[in-house]
Amino acid sequence: MLAQGVAGIVKDTQGTVAVAGGGVIGLSIAWRAATAGWRVTVYDPNPIERSTSWVAGGMLAPMTEGWPGEERLLELGVASLRRWDEFAAALADFGSSVVTAHSTITVAADEADVRDLHRVRDWLDQHNHCVTALTRAELRQAEPELARSLRPGFAVSDERAVDNRTLVRALAAACAAAGVRMTPHRVQNVASLHEDQVVVATGPWTSTLLSRMPVRPVKGEVLRLRKRPGSPDPPSATVRAVIHGRPVYLVPRPDGVVVGATQYEAGFDTQVTAGGVRDLLADAEIVFPGLSEYEFAEAIAGMRPMTPDNLPILGRLDERVTIAAGHGRGGILLAPLTADAVVAELAGAPLDETKYTDPRRFRNCHDKCDA
Ligand code: GLY
Repeated sequence: MLAQGVAGIVKDTQGTVAVAGGGVIGLSIAWRAATAGWRVTVYDPNPIERSTSWVAGGMLAPMTEGWPGEERLLELGVASLRRWDEFAAALADFGSSVVTAHSTITVAADEADVRDLHRVRDWLDQHNHCVTALTRAELRQAEPELARSLRPGFAVSDERAVDNRTLVRALAAACAAAGVRMTPHRVQNVASLHEDQVVVATGPWTSTLLSRMPVRPVKGEVLRLRKRPGSPDPPSATVRAVIHGRPVYLVPRPDGVVVGATQYEAGFDTQVTAGGVRDLLADAEIVFPGLSEYEFAEAIAGMRPMTPDNLPILGRLDERVTIAAGHGRGGILLAPLTADAVVAELAGAPLDETKYTDPRRFRNCHDKCDA
């Protein structure tokens, strides 16, 4: 039976843990578990530069990325956002600061787009999240380089953004400092691992290891645009826009912006398409005209690990195996909460905050899942 007999096993904090997957989720778990006293090995055949986390925009935006009906995801995201300042501060010893923005603003191109934003704003209001309506003058004052034609939406001062690449490098350094072993092997079969406990954090590849876990890849393309001498400074806040029905976001970096993201059901395809680049550039330029003077630095595609209900799968499969996968659009945001939840699970005391992420909600996974 799932999650039974756990407490007896995991009291020994000197035990060993295998973490399958070395992206932001796997590394966060490995770091926190090692600092909690576990001897941890991360298994991943790919360098971090080839992880899904390397592609991400890095928004910590559970409110502005939320949508009516996704209340549980909103609750989880906010619970993780609350941990982020401490998480980032603890990582500061292992590289430069990861935080690149301290708020989000939303903007729209036309009347229908404004209605979409108002729907999200009203929903957030109903759930007691603090959003601030913006006037055109306030928008211009906050972000003078945004297009004058834009219609203001609202601002959320609690949201953040991080540089995903600085983050994964810092996590790798923090893991090394905590004694985590990195093993460049793909885990083919959980049963073949010798560690006392196993955590599956294999993102979009999870169902290749645990075939009954319904995690599917959803492709997303993003661009990296770099400021050139004389071009306008990037926005100071993350800017989320709806442009004639199409969402686009600009996430500040010290040297420019990340523009994202397309969304397609395309299996494991990570090729960048001409149409994806064209749409992102066109929409981003409507928001921030000065981007046309930026250097086109990179176009890259990754895979979001989505689940049928858009909630992550986070919890015990059996007394040896815990899953931390299916983080969808929010892998970076949910990393601190996920790490805390897995360390709590290893200690036999699951967090109440993850009560809706139990893998048992997927009926096929009632007993063991190919573990
Ligand atoms: N969270 C950003 C994205 O999924 O595009």
